[in-house]
Amino acid sequence: MDNTSSLPSPRDGDPQTPLLEVRDLHVEFHTRDGVAKAVNGVNYSVSAGETLAVLGESGSGKSVTAQAIMGILDMPPGKIPQGEILFRGQDMLKMSFEERRKLRGRKIAMIFQDALSSLNPVLTVGYQLGEMFRVHEGMSKKDARLKAIELMEKVKIPAAKERVDDYPHHFSGGMRQRIMIAMAIALEPDLIIADEPTTALDVTVQAQVMDLLAELQRELNMGLILITHDLGVVADVADKIAVMYAGRIV
Ligand SMILES: Nc1ncnc2c1ncn2[C@@H]1O[C@H](COP(=O)(O)OP(=O)(O)O)[C@@H](O)[C@H]1O
Ligand SMILES: [Mg+2]
Repeated sequence: MDNTSSLPSPRDGDPQTPLLEVRDLHVEFHTRDGVAKAVNGVNYSVSAGETLAVLGESGSGKSVTAQAIMGILDMPPGKIPQGEILFRGQDMLKMSFEERRKLRGRKIAMIFQDALSSLNPVLTVGYQLGEMFRVHEGMSKKDARLKAIELMEKVKIPAAKERVDDYPHHFSGGMRQRIMIAMAIALEPDLIIADEPTTALDVTVQAQVMDLLAELQRELNMGLILITHDLGVVADVADKIAVMYAGRIV
């Protein structure tokens, strides 16, 4: 009997352990004017295949929490005096720089609001998508380009083969956000953090991009932390909701 088949696959993980758990997280910014407490004891968790919507007024600490999870907080001036960020039960705050770097992109990916400032304007989208495979998986230029086209098709960019060598400014806002999603799912991460991913788009395009994200999330069984203002989106896709106010969940 093949007794390995009963082991959970890494993607499934231990069903008892959430994919990501933030416990009593505190983030401060130490500046010349003093200490600003941006996050004051946040707790939330998300499991594989689950969508956690994070709501809250501007400045309540949603993005800073996301940056702390992603490991992209500027430290200094940022500082995490207290708390845990458990990924599959392991505290990422106790990991080495190298261990965290390996999780980024591969296991946890992030989608930002503004694709135009996240994409490099002087490189083609095919090059930037292909970079994920060249850098992380040592793929050849030619194979990486084919993977880029495949990804563009996956996020439903029309005429992907013809558009792979276009530059970011050749695409509409909605298409650029699809490219950001493509980049985030390139390495099939376990968790995606989307920080107001559709805020900059027209309402109809917003819905299309959200539908795509939700569809890919189901297909890849990813956990999704969705930071948003849009209560309609929340009602449609969220499994649970965390509302932040002044650095806390309320
Ligand atoms: N790099 C930084 N330096 C100092 N203060 C910061 C920095 N980044 C964010 N903050 C402050 O942290 C608080 C939370 O910000 P943020 O998480 O971006 O809010 P939001 O909920 O709108 O995403 C705000 O008061 C913001 O000014
Ligand atoms: Mg924000």
